[in-house]
Amino acid sequence: MSPRFETIDWYDVPRYYDLVFDEDTEREADFLEAMHARFGRAKAGAGARRVLEPACGSGRLVEALARRGWSVQGFDLSAPMLDHARERLDAAGLDAALYRASMEDFRARGRVELAHCLVSTFKYVLRERDAEAHLAGVARALVVGGLYVLGFHLSEYDVDQRTRERWVARDGDTEVVCNIQSWPPDRRRRLERVRSRLRVTEDGRERRTETNWTFRTYDARQVRRLLRAVPEFEHVATYDFTYDLDAPRELDDSQLDVVLVLRKRAAARRPG
Ligand SMILES: C[S@@+](CC[C@H](N)C(=O)[O-])C[C@H]1O[C@@H](n2cnc3c(N)ncnc32)[C@H](O)[C@@H]1O
Repeated sequence: MSPRFETIDWYDVPRYYDLVFDEDTEREADFLEAMHARFGRAKAGAGARRVLEPACGSGRLVEALARRGWSVQGFDLSAPMLDHARERLDAAGLDAALYRASMEDFRARGRVELAHCLVSTFKYVLRERDAEAHLAGVARALVVGGLYVLGFHLSEYDVDQRTRERWVARDGDTEVVCNIQSWPPDRRRRLERVRSRLRVTEDGRERRTETNWTFRTYDARQVRRLLRAVPEFEHVATYDFTYDLDAPRELDDSQLDVVLVLRKRAAARRPG
């Protein structure tokens, strides 16, 4: 018989989230600063360094950028994640403006030079009009020439099998084994189901948890169509989750992980 998994919201237990994702934080922060220098306001000689993170979660990137001298604001739907982010900032003697809001409908606290949303979080926005509203909201928060760096996985509509990924993370005596399973995307509804199972061993005890998510799906053509609907942004570059500055790529379906670099235009007319 397969072992029982307790159904939880993963984001109610921010510590486990951190253990799994913290490994890439400094590399991602390096990449964001490099994009700001290469394509953003730093290239234009502007000195201000204010950053917005929609769905900032446990605050791993909030802390990393605050440490580097950025003035950071972030919002999230999850109260436990925001509490955790505030605690980690307090512990580090750092500050940031953190508030509860949704990606679909938020009002930023002042203008920023840079915004980012990595690790497929954008795909929590399930409807096209909400995705457009999100991008337009970020554009409103940016100064002209400011960047939105948006990283997520494209979907393979032709795949008819489940895919699996497994990570193991350790911190002292705590071990987290994370198994992520994705079901084939539903091309018509533009949705895919993902299940994450965690096996956490802590103080000699084991806890098994399971969280189920639904994500919006995109292929490269659908991303381009969404971007056309938000003329506030110019798409200036595409990278992937290796965050290799010397390896920009095309926005196509040859590889599933994409990091879009979007720059706010001086003025744009909305279609229609
Ligand atoms: C994968 S975590 C990413 C957190 C953070 N951006 C990072 O890179 O570590 C996803 C976060 O999105 C938040 N979230 C999910 N749907 C949301 C929504 N519609 N609006 C705001 N936050 C949302 C969750 O609460 C969670 O903290």
